[in-house]
Amino acid sequence: MCGIVGFVGKQSAAPILLKGLKQLEYRGYDSAGIAVMDADGIRVEKVSGRIARLCEKTENGAAVPGSIGIGHTRWATHGAPTDVNAHPHLSNDGRFAIVHNGIIENYLALREELISDGYVFQSETDTETIVHLLEKYYDGDIKAAVMKTAARLEGSYALGILCADAPDTLYAVREASPLILGIGVGENYFASDVTALVAHTKNVIYLEDGEIAALTPGSIEVYDCTGQRLQKPISRVTWSVEAAEKGGYEHFMLKEIMEQPAAVKAALAPRLHEGEIRLDDFELSEETLRSVSKIVITACGSAYYAGCSGRYAIEKLCHIPVQVELASELRYGEPMVDEHTLVLVISQSGETADTIAALKECRAHGATIIGIVNVVGSTIAKLADHTLYTWAGPEIAVATTKGFTTQLAILYLFALYVGKKLGRVEQAQYAALLRSLKLLPKRLQETIDMNYQIPALAGRYASQSLFFIGRNTDYAVALEGALKMKEISYLHAESYAAGELKHGTIALIDEGQPVIAVCCNEALCDKTLSNIVEVKARGAKVLALAFRGNKKIVSQADDVIFIPQIETVFSAALAVVPLQLLAYYAAREKGCDIDKPKNLAKSVTVE
Ligand code: M6R
Repeated sequence: MCGIVGFVGKQSAAPILLKGLKQLEYRGYDSAGIAVMDADGIRVEKVSGRIARLCEKTENGAAVPGSIGIGHTRWATHGAPTDVNAHPHLSNDGRFAIVHNGIIENYLALREELISDGYVFQSETDTETIVHLLEKYYDGDIKAAVMKTAARLEGSYALGILCADAPDTLYAVREASPLILGIGVGENYFASDVTALVAHTKNVIYLEDGEIAALTPGSIEVYDCTGQRLQKPISRVTWSVEAAEKGGYEHFMLKEIMEQPAAVKAALAPRLHEGEIRLDDFELSEETLRSVSKIVITACGSAYYAGCSGRYAIEKLCHIPVQVELASELRYGEPMVDEHTLVLVISQSGETADTIAALKECRAHGATIIGIVNVVGSTIAKLADHTLYTWAGPEIAVATTKGFTTQLAILYLFALYVGKKLGRVEQAQYAALLRSLKLLPKRLQETIDMNYQIPALAGRYASQSLFFIGRNTDYAVALEGALKMKEISYLHAESYAAGELKHGTIALIDEGQPVIAVCCNEALCDKTLSNIVEVKARGAKVLALAFRGNKKIVSQADDVIFIPQIETVFSAALAVVPLQLLAYYAAREKGCDIDKPKNLAKSVTVE
């Protein structure tokens, strides 16, 4: 999704902006641009396609002099990904340049109004209305023009603004779209994502909705929407520059798959204390938990599948009914949520627009919200009543891997914590489960180490159409495995609860059809085995996924991927890893752009 960077200081701005934009490439984009200001005014350079083209066009920034500027990567929503629609956009008088993340919902009405006022539009974007509004409301006071403009906008926006009348000041404003200010020495920055800042500074200020910032080389001032000056806390970013780089791997996705043992350890270890689970700085008392009539989990994409898997763990260990809802559906439904509902909102980025809207909907119905989030200081982390960070570190590849397994780790921890508090997990079982959970990082490493044959299997099973099947928690793994395959290798993959095959889908099974059967739930293994036999009888080629030592599977499947033993309730966190690798190698074989799959964005900040 779109990315924003801004710089003001003494150095040449353009190379810094281009470098920042490269750090944001992973978010997904289809055009890029920068605007830099010097004594001659504002100069804009923008191109459709990759940042490399922008670097070429600007001689790596050398052709665009000036030490203050803004940059943008655009993921097209309103208007095709063309040079003209790319940001920054200029006002008709050339005084203002802006970059924008988000969507202006009332842009059509504003556009009509501005056209009747005599403003001329160059692009099809919603963004261009903003820059003309700035010109319209400007009477010598930039902050006042920004405030008046913001008051007219409906929707979401993070804006970076340059004004030719303020040659050493950058302006920024946000509403429902992230923007972070970076504090340097004699220079300051802003960006829509902390990864674009960490190379320059670890000291940041998180801008909140409705706030406006003015940045000069030596100062940062933040105001509320009425123009009152605010004192903002400075936060320290713990991510290192190296953590956001590839570290010798061919792709971020592979690096992040390999980081899973360490990431899950980072998620679990600080919460496990001598046989006890502690949930960071909050506690859910037995009394509070007894008043919970149900748990609703809401999220999008893989985070939703993590929720589907977490549901089995919570229902099994806590005996509380769990409803898992797609955030994009929940936000427009009639959610059966009240003050006795505990809502788990799961999001790697913490900025997914649908998930934020679902959170707000549940909050409006009186529910208590726990966020399970990776990105510190993100919108969901801030809106939730309590946040459990997944501590996965920066996830750059669009396809989530360590983000997903750390979400599972937190859900397992949560299920065990609640189950114990409510006395629904007995001490002996609790101790055994806790031992097993502590071993999860080690078992993840073994899973990675024992699956060296996956590149060869990917060659054999990657085909135009694949089926992923499983039951119970294996079904959640099948859903995530199929999504991974679709999003990075562009192969059609369907996932089915194995018992559903005979209700229609089995009609699609023909000679040679690849079926990936997840069979790690020992209690249901024989049931899934019957489904394997059924599809094989119709010619399917079956690749099964099972615990090491499962002889029955070996006798029925064409190929088997093994994972080490773990308590079944935690098995999804291991079982998903070979499927991530299968998708990765299938995509690599096809020569796909693995870290930046077509049409996708890392953080879906628009609806
Ligand atoms: O940042 P979030 O966890 O809220 O993102 C949710 C989905 O957009 C995300 O999981 C998406 O499905 C991934 N690309 C899957 O790999």
